[in-house]
Amino acid sequence: MAITGAAGRIGSVVRAGLRDEVARLVLIDRVGLTAQTPTEDVHQLDLRDAEAVTAALKGVDAVVHLGGIPDEAPLPDLLDGNVRGTHHVLEGARRQGVRRVVLASSNRVSGFYPVTETVTHEMPARPDGLYGVSKVAVEALGRLYADKFGLSVVCLRIGSFEDAPSERRHLSTWLSPRDGFGFIRTALTAPDVRFETVYAVSANLRRFWDTDAGANLGYIPVDDAEAFASRLAAGPDPAESDPQGGEYASAEYTLRHM
Ligand code: NAI
Repeated sequence: MAITGAAGRIGSVVRAGLRDEVARLVLIDRVGLTAQTPTEDVHQLDLRDAEAVTAALKGVDAVVHLGGIPDEAPLPDLLDGNVRGTHHVLEGARRQGVRRVVLASSNRVSGFYPVTETVTHEMPARPDGLYGVSKVAVEALGRLYADKFGLSVVCLRIGSFEDAPSERRHLSTWLSPRDGFGFIRTALTAPDVRFETVYAVSANLRRFWDTDAGANLGYIPVDDAEAFASRLAAGPDPAESDPQGGEYASAEYTLRHM
């Protein structure tokens, strides 16, 4: 198996979880890592280097692609890091005969739906910023490689991956490390997948997203942000028309990062 973005916040959790489960774990990041077990195989490279990505995926059966820019940024950077980077991973996977690619998408592909709406993966994208637009393109690349080249692809629309909820929006969007790992491991191993899109969110009482697709894939989340509700600063409840993306959906947020 392989992890891109293995040095990152989610990558570190997935690395620790998979390390003892697989015979060989390929770790890819532009940040230098040190192998911690004989099973780990470190590749320091930039995902914008297509040949290096393809070479690192030799002999790999499944890859979870987490590497990229995880937030709002100028569009050229997002196109380069997220869209080109993902293309290189999918193309490397095709050339090396990789069976399954799990793509890190984001809840922010649909952050302009109002908080009152339960969103399913089948509804049209409503990105809340340019980062969300880049993840729509990431999902489209995954669909193309599944349809055209027969790759098995799972897009995970990741919620807010945090040790614990730290703001009120997280009551709806939190993805605990335990559930995050659970979704990713299931996405890597579930049988008979051509193309699936799944919201990866904990079992939050106030969640915005439908979790049936995740259950069909084989993972039912266990944590609920509601357990932390009393610890979060009381604030006004979101208005019915507010977008799910909260501050991320504001004009100022995108203008500040452009
Ligand atoms: P992170 O920023 O902690 O980790 C990303 C890793 O990718 C870093 O180690 C970085 O060095 C590496 N990277 C970035 N660009 C690279 C490049 N061009 N070549 C090689 N390596 C590169 O991000 P995090 O939080 O672990 O997120 C992982 C993925 O999950 C990202 O794709 C992000 O968009 C997605 N995601 C994360 C969410 C979260 O709550 N953390 C929510 C929704 C989606």
